[in-house]
Amino acid sequence: MTTQLSVAVVGAGYWGPNLARNFSASRDWRLAAICDLDGAKAAALAEKVGHVDVHTDLAELLERDDIDAVAVATPARTHHAVVLAALRAGKHVVVEKPLADSRERALEMVAEAEERGLTLMADHTYCYTPAVLKIRELIAEGALGELLFIDSVRINLGLVQPDVDVFWDLAPHDLSIIDFILPNGLRPAEVSAQGADPLGAGRSCIGYLTVPLENGAIAHVHVNWLSPTKIRSMVIGGTKRTLVWDDLNPQQRISVYDRGVDLDQQSVDGVNRTAAAISYRLGDTWSPALPEHEALGAMAAEFATSIREGRAARTDGLAGLRVLSVLEAASRSLGRAGRMEPVEAAEPILTAVAS
Ligand SMILES: NC(=O)c1ccc[n+]([C@@H]2O[C@H](COP(=O)([O-])OP(=O)(O)OC[C@H]3O[C@@H](n4cnc5c(N)ncnc54)[C@H](O)[C@@H]3O)[C@@H](O)[C@H]2O)c1
Repeated sequence: MTTQLSVAVVGAGYWGPNLARNFSASRDWRLAAICDLDGAKAAALAEKVGHVDVHTDLAELLERDDIDAVAVATPARTHHAVVLAALRAGKHVVVEKPLADSRERALEMVAEAEERGLTLMADHTYCYTPAVLKIRELIAEGALGELLFIDSVRINLGLVQPDVDVFWDLAPHDLSIIDFILPNGLRPAEVSAQGADPLGAGRSCIGYLTVPLENGAIAHVHVNWLSPTKIRSMVIGGTKRTLVWDDLNPQQRISVYDRGVDLDQQSVDGVNRTAAAISYRLGDTWSPALPEHEALGAMAAEFATSIREGRAARTDGLAGLRVLSVLEAASRSLGRAGRMEPVEAAEPILTAVAS
C-alpha cells in the first residue's frame, strides 16, 4: 500500500466542504487540516470531517512540514496570493476554477509551480465526471470521426454575481470540458462573444461565445442566468457519429447517434462544388453505460497520482490558463461589439517567462 499524502483544505465556505469530504474519504489522502479566515467555519467543517486541525492563519498552516499539499477553495480573486504562498512553501496545489482572476496572474502561478517542480492542478470538476471521461475516451478512440462542431448550452435562473458576468461565472465549465475532450486541448486562434443585459443588471446575463476550432470545426457556448428552464447539454458532431450529452438525464446522459452527413467526394471536383451530393446516413443510437463515481473523488485521485508520478495532472495549470486566455479574449470581444479577438497562447509565453 502506498503511503498517504497529507492535504489541507483552504476555504470552508460553500465548495470547501465538498473537497474536505472527498479528501477525507480518499485512500490516497490524509486530510490534516482546514484553514479559513473565519475560525468558526473552519472549526465546524473540521469537526464534520473527523476532528482535523483548524487554522485561521495561512502562513502558520504553510509552515507545517507534515503537509504535502493544499486544496484551495477561496474566492477567485484570492487564488493568486494563496496559491503563490503555498507553492513558495513547497506545497503541491489544487485550486478551484477559475485558476485566477486574470490570465497574467495565472501565468505567474503556472511558472512558479514549474520552476519549483510542484504540481499545480485546476479543479475542473466536470472533467472528472463519468460522462466527460467517457466523451474524452470516445473522441480519442475516433468513435466520432473528425470533429465538426460542439454546441454547449448551460442555462437556468442563476444568481446574478456581483463581480463577474455570466461568461466568467459559467463558461469556465464549458471551456474546461472542451479543453479536456479535444485531443489537442482548446487552443483557438480567436473568439467572438456577444452578451446581453436586458434587465440592466450592469453586466452580461446572457452570453454567446463562438470559438473556431482546428480544421474548420467550430464550438459555440451559450450561458444564461435568465432562463426559466434549466438545460445542461452538449452536442458534439463528428464525421462518423454525433454524441449528445444531457447532464440532467441520469437515465441516459450520453447518446451516440450513428447518423451523419456524407459529402460525396467524387462530385467535389473543384470545378463544380455546388454539385457535390450530400447524403444522410441513418443508423442506430446507443447509450454507453457509465460507472458511478463522484467527480471530486476522481479529481483527488488524479491529484495524488500526478504528484507521485511527477507528471502533469490531467487538468493542470496550463489547462486553467487556456480557459482564462479564452475568457479574456471573450471580454475584449464583448467590448468591441462581438468582433473576433485573438486568443493569446499559453505555452509559448510560458517558455519565454521561464527562459
Ligand atoms: N468546481 C466547482 O464546480 C465549483 C463550484 C462552486 C464554487 N467553486 C469555486 O470554489 C471557490 C470558492 O467558492 P465558494 O462559493 O465556496 O466561496 P465562499 O465565499 O462560499 O467561501 C470561500 C471561503 O474562503 C475563505 N477565505 C477567503 N480568503 C481566505 C484566505 N486568504 N485564507 C483562508 N480562507 C479564506 C472565506 O472566509 C470563505 O469561508 C471559487 O473559486 C469558486 O469558483 C467551484
